[in-house]
Amino acid sequence: MPSFRNSFLLVPLAVAQGSKCMASDIHWGPCDDIQTDNATAIECGDLRVPLDYTNPTSNETLILQLLRVPAAVQPSQGSIQFNFGGPGEIARQSLAATAPILQALTGGSHDLVAFDPRGTGNTIPFWCYENDAEMFSALNELQLSNASDVMLGRHWARGGIDAHMCFERAAETGSLISTAFVARDLMRVAEALEEDGLLRYWGFSYGTTLGATVAAMFPDRIDKMILDGVQNPHEYYHAFADFEEWTDSDKVFSAIFEGCVAAPENCALAQRNGSGTTAAELEQAVWDVLYALKRRPLALGNFMLDYSGLKGIITQALYSPSGWPGLAAVLDLVLAGDVPALTRIASVISGGDLLDPEAIRASMRSLQALAGIHCGERTTRAATLDDVMPAVERLYATSRIMGDVTPPLTMMCARWRIEPRERYGGSFDGVRTRGPVLFIGNTYDAHTPLVSAYNVSSGFEGSVVLEVNGYGHASLAVPSLCTLQTTAAYWLNGSLPDPGTVCESDMPLYSNVTWADVILTAAGGDEAASSLARRGAYDVPNLGRIARRGLMY
Ligand SMILES: *[C@@H]1O[C@H](CO)[C@@H](O)[C@H](O)[C@H]1NC(C)=O
Ligand SMILES: *[C@@H]1O[C@H](CO)[C@@H](O)[C@H](O)[C@H]1NC(C)=O
Ligand SMILES: *[C@@H]1O[C@H](CO)[C@@H](O)[C@H](O)[C@H]1NC(C)=O
Ligand SMILES: *[C@@H]1O[C@H](CO)[C@@H](O)[C@H](O)[C@H]1NC(C)=O
Ligand SMILES: *[C@@H]1O[C@H](CO)[C@@H](O)[C@H](O)[C@H]1NC(C)=O
Ligand SMILES: *[C@@H]1O[C@H](CO)[C@@H](O)[C@H](O)[C@H]1NC(C)=O
Ligand SMILES: *[C@@H]1O[C@H](CO)[C@@H](O)[C@H](O)[C@H]1NC(C)=O
Repeated sequence: MPSFRNSFLLVPLAVAQGSKCMASDIHWGPCDDIQTDNATAIECGDLRVPLDYTNPTSNETLILQLLRVPAAVQPSQGSIQFNFGGPGEIARQSLAATAPILQALTGGSHDLVAFDPRGTGNTIPFWCYENDAEMFSALNELQLSNASDVMLGRHWARGGIDAHMCFERAAETGSLISTAFVARDLMRVAEALEEDGLLRYWGFSYGTTLGATVAAMFPDRIDKMILDGVQNPHEYYHAFADFEEWTDSDKVFSAIFEGCVAAPENCALAQRNGSGTTAAELEQAVWDVLYALKRRPLALGNFMLDYSGLKGIITQALYSPSGWPGLAAVLDLVLAGDVPALTRIASVISGGDLLDPEAIRASMRSLQALAGIHCGERTTRAATLDDVMPAVERLYATSRIMGDVTPPLTMMCARWRIEPRERYGGSFDGVRTRGPVLFIGNTYDAHTPLVSAYNVSSGFEGSVVLEVNGYGHASLAVPSLCTLQTTAAYWLNGSLPDPGTVCESDMPLYSNVTWADVILTAAGGDEAASSLARRGAYDVPNLGRIARRGLMY
């Protein structure tokens, strides 16, 4: 099967003797295109699913590429499927990279399974540009909308161009990648695994919208489900923007400075003005320098550090406090105006790859997938810039740090022209799943606030919200033994925490504590678990990798 994994396939199903049977068995074998630490066992397989679930007479199919991490403790108690968000995140590589942590958090007795969702990876990737020049021209407009007073008009026009190009060139693909179709894919996989046919699922960020959708569509087939870093699906489908997402963003931004002055020995920024500097002064100084960069960006070798660039670095850091010491060191140099030192670390500041075309393509693929999936299934459209301005104003009023990040997406979606074949239009209230859902929300999450976890949980009968008292996006950003014990117990025996349970973080801000430390503690004297914990690169998986230039969740 030459180049089997490298091109997406829309293969007509071979129909035996005219009968309409769907080959559902998955043949597991080695993975050719996935990188691991070489200690995590992984296997890969393909599953054929209908390309268009709304057309029962069609025999066209799509191949889902699956990755499986077999349970550390055999025999396996079944499979848990994962989605890492975006929308637009690939899933197989993310699962391989986070498997050591996820095995611990699931208790080690389940197989972990993921496929790259429609629109991403090799699974009918959504892409509207015909050449690099078109792609770079789109990239160059990815400034934050408050970067200058001309940006909003440019975003509106650019959104119209993208909506037009995608409609002309990718309308067929764009109609086939909706969340409702991915929800059906999840159920096909659950069936093909030949277990009990029920879905066990853990979704992060947008993966919670996918989870809420599949649960609302197939409530009686949900065995266990964790929705972690919860997005408000009402807004995802029906609002001009995901306003609620940014409820706590400014609090997380402020905590960067509060944590810094509380641990001055680990934070360069706290030492720059003698020991008397307050968190509020530091934060104000950063706002001042950010706004100054609008008119006087810095030339750092071959890299320009401007308002959008520095704000993009900061908004990336909101995902996880593990990056705050590094961010504080960079901000310290920026406040000092130390151009030579900044130039020496320009490749780090720029994400290491901002000038690498392949890395840019990867970021743009994620952004295109995000637009293709999210814009298509939003129900709101606008005819003029004036019509979306109230949404922009509301974003600005919701968060100073994140408010001007997503208007470009809001505008593109408002002008979108591709209709999905299926859009989930049902309710998220009164959902009675077969087994109760466990929701997880961090006390301070800059992308998916705790209030959204309570919002969705209120519509899911028997569900419980676990609060994790820490900063960052979803539970993986907050190493916590209590979280580990709670999630492992849920997967092992279905037990839910009491309502109102709060798990404390085991990672003080500006410390070096990682999940590896937590897992070692949980393992006690268990040698196998300890070696599992030691081997992994246990830094927090960055659920926001695609946010390269700030435009993202
Ligand atoms: C799929 O359907 C098309 C049109 O209905 C038909 O021409 C084709 O032979 C079918 N392919 C298979 C493999 O059955
Ligand atoms: C895994 O093995 C491959 C091939 O032997 C090697 O190139 C790669 O560096 C290894 N990766 C790690 C993280 O050890
Ligand atoms: C440094 O100290 C001066 C005066 O002591 C104060 O005005 C200024 O805001 C401080 N700068 C920072 C970044 O804290
Ligand atoms: C936009 O930037 C200006 C400074 O250039 C600032 O005064 C203003 O508050 C910002 N607006 C928003 C909504 O962030
Ligand atoms: C959940 O959020 C939606 C959208 O913001 C809102 O309309 C609804 O009232 C909320 N539900 C609850 C129970 O808070
Ligand atoms: C489920 O697991 C937890 C933690 O291991 C334990 O405390 C609880 O008693 C178990 N519940 C059942 C019903 O086995
Ligand atoms: C974290 O680890 C780095 C590198 O090992 C070390 O230099 C630093 O002092 C550590 N910080 C803390 C707070 O332990």
